[in-house]
Amino acid sequence: MVDGDFTALMSAADPAMIVVTTAVEGEPAGCLVGFHAQSSVLPAHYAVRLSKAIHTYRVGLRASHFAVHLLSVHDIALAELFGTRSGMDTDKFSGLDVDLGVAGVPLLGACPHRLLLERITLLDDGGDHVGVSGKVLSAQSPGRLEPLRLSAVAHLRAGHDSAERAIRP
Ligand SMILES: Cc1cc2nc3c(=O)[nH]c(=O)nc-3n(C[C@H](O)[C@H](O)[C@H](O)COP(=O)(O)O)c2cc1C
Repeated sequence: MVDGDFTALMSAADPAMIVVTTAVEGEPAGCLVGFHAQSSVLPAHYAVRLSKAIHTYRVGLRASHFAVHLLSVHDIALAELFGTRSGMDTDKFSGLDVDLGVAGVPLLGACPHRLLLERITLLDDGGDHVGVSGKVLSAQSPGRLEPLRLSAVAHLRAGHDSAERAIRP
């Protein structure tokens, strides 16, 4: 049985926030993510968890590459855009400075601290999020990063409730 102590422990950890982007067949996607971590040292691997409710997951199911952008304390507006809006009804990339990386993965010019991942696995372990683990193809960190943490954006209302699922015809 999970009680309030679990939520309290997770809040106390206060993870750094990232924006994960990906693309498939020219369709870009991206969302704010708090569930993520390094998952291997040698070779370097990184893992993120994507909600089954969201557009980024649906695109990510078929995607080969992902970018992980570590947000700074100055990126609250980006956190809000990527965490509260959905690519199902909004072009989140419109008006942003975006370069296209490997396989068309959007790279956000405003977020130069980033990793580029080549997908290794996508794991559904029965929860409401799936795990995507990737080989780190490149890492960029130009200068010091003061991370944007969960405590600064916990008030945001996610674009999708994690219990949502695609409507089946
Ligand atoms: C503080 C915060 C943390 C979040 N963490 C995650 C996460 O770890 N994984 C995830 O898939 N979604 C997470 N979300 C939810 C998505 O970012 C949100 O539902 C987004 O609108 C999905 O966009 P999309 O439908 O374009 O993919 C988080 C949202 C917020 C506000």
